[in-house]
Amino acid sequence: MTPPAQIVQLLAGAWTLLNMTNICSSSNNSTSSYGLHPTGQIIYTPSFYMSANIMSTTPADRPANITYPSKDTDTDHDWAQVGKHTMSYAGPFSVTWGNETNGELVHGPLTFSAAPGWFGTPQKRNYTIYEGGKVLNLWTVNKDTGVVARLWWRKLGT
Ligand SMILES: *[C@@H]1O[C@H](CO)[C@@H](O)[C@H](O)[C@H]1NC(C)=O
Ligand SMILES: *[C@@H]1O[C@H](CO)[C@@H](O)[C@H](O)[C@H]1NC(C)=O
Ligand SMILES: *[C@@H]1O[C@H](CO)[C@@H](O)[C@H](O)[C@H]1NC(C)=O
Ligand SMILES: *[C@@H]1O[C@H](CO)[C@@H](O)[C@H](O)[C@H]1NC(C)=O
Ligand SMILES: *[C@@H]1O[C@H](CO)[C@@H](O)[C@H](O)[C@H]1NC(C)=O
Repeated sequence: MTPPAQIVQLLAGAWTLLNMTNICSSSNNSTSSYGLHPTGQIIYTPSFYMSANIMSTTPADRPANITYPSKDTDTDHDWAQVGKHTMSYAGPFSVTWGNETNGELVHGPLTFSAAPGWFGTPQKRNYTIYEGGKVLNLWTVNKDTGVVARLWWRKLGT
């Protein structure tokens, strides 16, 4: 096992979302809640903090007639579309085990989460690092459905 400090050196920085896939089986893939063209950014600091922000760019998921702060004339349905297709969370992070190319890390326990159920929870992710630290794959296996969700990120400024 590589000391976490060396892995954190590779992770530290800002990453832009390339794409995400939900692979159920060879004959059945599904689209994520963030549509076919999600955009996002994940940031890791050398002092072991992180934040992640992802949103759909599909117009139907982002009614253009609502603005922040919400107005009385906005419909709850329109805001619900935004809520269902946007994700934001932040907190500390740690590396459970691994080396410079693959292992497991934990986002959290989360000190901020747009999704109420994730607040205060640790979110485990498998990681694989490619191209010497330029591309990061974060992935999870859903124990109930077997769906493998993969998020691909490219480091900004490299
Ligand atoms: C599901 O995704 C995998 C990996 O990208 C691909 O090999 C497979 O052909 C896809 N299956 C379908 C039905 O699209
Ligand atoms: C806002 O736009 C959406 C389509 O993006 C539409 O479904 C909705 O009815 C509009 N809401 C209002 C209050 O005009
Ligand atoms: C990292 O660990 C994996 C096994 O989990 C191993 O296959 C790989 O060679 C290791 N890479 C390095 C750079 O040590
Ligand atoms: C990481 O990958 C392993 C092996 O593929 C899997 O069993 C485990 O559930 C994954 N971890 C998470 C957090 O999904
Ligand atoms: C695809 O797989 C998911 C998860 O196992 C399941 O809920 C869904 O019904 C499947 N869809 C099709 C079209 O087989």
